[in-house]
Amino acid sequence: MNDIIISPSILSADFANLEMELKALKQAGAKWVHIDVMDGHFVPNITIGVPVVNSLRKVTDLVLDTHLMIDNPEKYVEAFAKAGSDIITFHFEAVRNISHAVEVISLIKSFGVKAGVSIKPKTAPEEILPLLDKVDLLLVMTVEPGFGGQEFMHDCAMKIPVIKDNAPEGLIIQVDGGVNNLTSKICTSLGANSLVAGSYIFKNDYKKAIESLY
Ligand code: DX5
Ligand code: ZN
Repeated sequence: MNDIIISPSILSADFANLEMELKALKQAGAKWVHIDVMDGHFVPNITIGVPVVNSLRKVTDLVLDTHLMIDNPEKYVEAFAKAGSDIITFHFEAVRNISHAVEVISLIKSFGVKAGVSIKPKTAPEEILPLLDKVDLLLVMTVEPGFGGQEFMHDCAMKIPVIKDNAPEGLIIQVDGGVNNLTSKICTSLGANSLVAGSYIFKNDYKKAIESLY
C-alpha cells in the first residue's frame, strides 16, 4: 500500500493559509505536495510562481513536486530549482521534440533536482517512450491541464500500461486529474505508483481522503 506516493495538489488549498495547509497535509500522512504552475499561455489559467515555491520551501520538509504547465520550461527551471523544488515536471507538448526534451531533463538534473515529463490527454504514450529511461517521473494527465475539479478521463488511464510495460525499474508513474477514491484504484491497478489529487482531498477530511486513495 505504501509504495503508492500520494501528492496532494495545493491548487485546491486555501491560498491565504498555505503554511497551515501544508502542516495539515503532513499530519494527514502526506509526504509530497504537488504544486501546479500555470502561465496563462500553455494553459488558460494562471496560478503559482517562483516566490510562492520559495516561501513554501521555508516552512515545509514535504517533497515539493512542481508541475510546470508553462511554455519555454527551460527558461524557468533554474528559478524553480533554486526556489527549492525537489521534482520538476514539464510538459512534452511545451518542447519541440525528443532531443529538446532531453536537454530540459539534463538541465533539471544539473541542479540536483529530479526530472519529470508530463503528457496531455491528446498525446500518445508512444511519443515519449524514448524518454522513459531518462526521467525520474512520468506524469499522465487524466484531464486537460488548467483547472482542478474536472472529471477523470478513463481513456487517458489506458496509457498507463503502455508506459509501465516500457518503464525501467524505479520509474515513478504519476497520474493527475480527477483522482478520487474510485479512480485511484483504476490507476494503481493499471500500474501507476503516484497519484495527484486536489479537489477530492481538500473537499474532504484530509486524512480520510488520503487513506481512501490507497
Ligand atoms: C490540473 C492540475 C492538477 C489539479 C488536479 O491542471 O495539474 O494537479 O490540481 O485537480 P483535481 O484533483 O481536482 O482534478
Ligand atoms: Zn498538476
